[in-house]
Parts: sequence; structure tokens; C-alpha cells
Amino acid sequence: MTQRVLTGITTTGTPHLGNYVGAIRPAIAASRKPGVESFLFLADYHALVKCDEPARVERSRMELAVTWLAAGLDPARVTFYRQSDVPEITELTWLLTCVTAKGQMNRAHAYKAATDANEAAGAETDDGVSMGLFCYPILMAADILMFNAHKVPVGRDQVQHIEMARDIAQRFNHLFGAADKPHFVLPEAVIEEHVATLPGLDGRKMSKSYDNTIPLFEGGPKALTDAIARIVTDSRLPGEPKETEGSALVMIHDAFAKPEEREAFRQDLKAGLGWGDAKKRLAELIERDIGPLRARYDELMAHPERVEEALQEGARKARAVATPFLAQLRDAVGLRRMHALASPAATAKAAPAKAALPVFKQYREADGRFFFKLTDAAGAVLLQSEGFDQPRDAGAWVSRFKKEGAAALAGAPVALKGEAQAVSAALDLLAASQE
Ligand code: TRP
Repeated sequence: MTQRVLTGITTTGTPHLGNYVGAIRPAIAASRKPGVESFLFLADYHALVKCDEPARVERSRMELAVTWLAAGLDPARVTFYRQSDVPEITELTWLLTCVTAKGQMNRAHAYKAATDANEAAGAETDDGVSMGLFCYPILMAADILMFNAHKVPVGRDQVQHIEMARDIAQRFNHLFGAADKPHFVLPEAVIEEHVATLPGLDGRKMSKSYDNTIPLFEGGPKALTDAIARIVTDSRLPGEPKETEGSALVMIHDAFAKPEEREAFRQDLKAGLGWGDAKKRLAELIERDIGPLRARYDELMAHPERVEEALQEGARKARAVATPFLAQLRDAVGLRRMHALASPAATAKAAPAKAALPVFKQYREADGRFFFKLTDAAGAVLLQSEGFDQPRDAGAWVSRFKKEGAAALAGAPVALKGEAQAVSAALDLLAASQE
């Protein structure tokens, strides 16, 4: 079966050399592999969460689209689209919002970072927090689940969002799908461990937020050489041997050089090559890769109608998948054409059998003590508690298991009666199905 790989890029910035080496170049290489069906999109609805400057969103969408196309993304192979051109995604967002626990969103890192900062500053907890920021992970889950992606390449900071997408998918499947025919594939994050993080002008990670970036195409070769001139080096003079280890200049050179060129560059620096000349060589090396792409970039920037056409075509391909799938999901939740309803009894019979859930039972023994046990849908005992003097103590443990799932097992006053893995799975399933 082909693997569906999907990723989104938030349209708030101008692509720089770090984006090219860390994300664009490897994603394009990966999209050329056989057996992979790639979906790549501009997350322009996500951009609105962070940015309320229309001109910036507009410019970034254009620059990003053109950069990906110029860098070699083949829209015939990859489904390349704007999130906002696929209305099914926002419609799905609502279906998912209705099965997402608010408590889970409270724990999202981006939201927590905002509320923690507010609390530290003595402000209202939710000061400056929009519902967009709060619900950001649900929109992202819809991006992924709409296309039933198997793999989602992301940075480490996004892993929690993929886990949330899995949870939401699981809950929707449980509520509205048959056990043997789930609606959604559970997506997996792919973290690009081996992908180099390019250092910026000051040696820290190249990032817009550090203002240490080298532009990729914008500003032409002049902007590139100007930025390279600002890469921080030590004060050793031409003729003096240079330290190559840990040098940002050398690391950026590595990202574009062939192995033998890397070695030669190091040797020459150790033999006294001046930093000025080294920068000139670096500029030429990058231009060797980027130059031909820049010509395509400039060409496309001058022809926005071609970019628009490519994205419209991408949206058509994306919607060819999304439209029928959303129809299936609408039907699953009960949004259907009017037709004569079966009598309630018949409906109950006709309803697809839900995956039966394990159940907790609380009871009192002849000795007067209170117990609980967990049984699977067929009645087999999975977990047996010790006796409690007070019924509310037994009840508190049951609530905790329902909330935390298998995580509550450690230290709990219970004995496992089934296989550990089966018990954990049953507890997690039950926790995932709670309102
Ligand atoms: N939130 C992601 C980021 O900031 C971008 C994104 C939006 C995304 N939707 C996605 C990534 C779906 C992967 C899959 O990097």
C-alpha cells in the first residue's frame, strides 16, 4: 500500500537558507521516492492565528509557494495546495471540535506557554489568547485526518500536536465507526533527526526569531553575499591558521559542498585562507546550487497567475479526496438527507455495533468492604481491586482510571487478572471514550 505523507507550512515568514536545508530540500527529495504519495500544503489558516497583517500573510503565501516550486517540487507528483482552498478541512474541524475534550486542549504546549507567561507576569490567565490559538491543534488534526495521512514529518515542537490528532481520530472512530472499519488512520509523527539544523549569522540556530537568517531567494545574489559578509568569525588575519571546528561559516559551507570540497575548505582555512576569501568561496558555492533555482523563482514571482493555476489544480486534487470523504463523515455523525426514519426500535437494531467497551463494576462483599473490578466486553475480569472501607475510596479509584487510563496503574491497589498489555489497552480505550 502506498504511504501517505503529509505536512504543512505556516505562511508567516520569508523562506531562508535554514528552511531550505532543513525542510524544503529534504521534503522534495522524499517526495520523489517511489511508493509515497505526498501532500504538501500552505497552512494559511494557521498563519491567521499568529498574524493579523493581511499584507504579510499574502506575501508569505506567495513567497513560500514560489520557493517550493522553484526548489523543484513537482506539482504533478505532489498534491500541493493551500489549506484555505479546501473548505472540507474547516468543516471537518468542527466535527472534530465536538469530540475533543477541552481538558486536552488546556494541556497543549502553545496554549500553556501563553497562560504560564501570563501567570508569571501577574496578568489574567487567558490574556491575549484567541480561540484560534486554543483550538489550533484541532485544525491541525483536521489537516492530517482529512487525507488519512500515515506519516507526518514535523519538527520536535509539533509532536504533541500529532499525538492529539491520534487521540481525536481514535475518539471519532470509536464514537462513529465500526470497530473493523475505522474512518481515520492514526497518523504518526516523523521527526527528521538527521536533518541538519543550519547555524545562522551569529552561530545560533538560523531562525527568524533570532534575526540571524540568510535569505534564500529574496533580494537576489546581493542579499545573499551581504548576509554572508555578516557571518560572525574570529579575528584571525589572513595567513593565520583558522579553527574550523564549530565555525558557522564552515557548517553552512558543509550543507552545500561535496565531501571533497568540505575537506579542501578545511585544509585551506587551516593553511591561512582569510575569512574574507572564505566568504567569497561560500557565496559562490551556494550560488552554484541556488542560482539556477533563483532564475525560476524570479520568473514565477513575475507570473503570479501561473502559481495561482498550480495551486488551484492542487486544490482540485485535494478536494477529489476530501469531498467524498467528508460526505462519509457527515453521514456517520447523522447529518444526512431527509428520508423516512425507521422506528426507534428498528434503528437501534440497525445501528452498527459499536466496539464494546470494558466496564468497571463496584460492589460490596459479605465482609462489608467495597471493591471494584474491570471486565472486558465479554465479561472476563481484567482487574480486581483490594477492599476499601469506604465506597467513595473505591469510587475515586474508578474515576481516576477512567480519566487517566493505564497511567493510573502504577501504585494502584489492584491486581491484574488479564495480560498486562490487554489490561492497559482496555483502560486506555475506556479513558479515551470518556466525555
Ligand atoms: N503547525 C505546523 C507548524 O507550525 C504547521 C502545520 C499546520 C502542519 N498543519 C499541519 C504540519 C499538519 C503538519 C501537518 O510547523
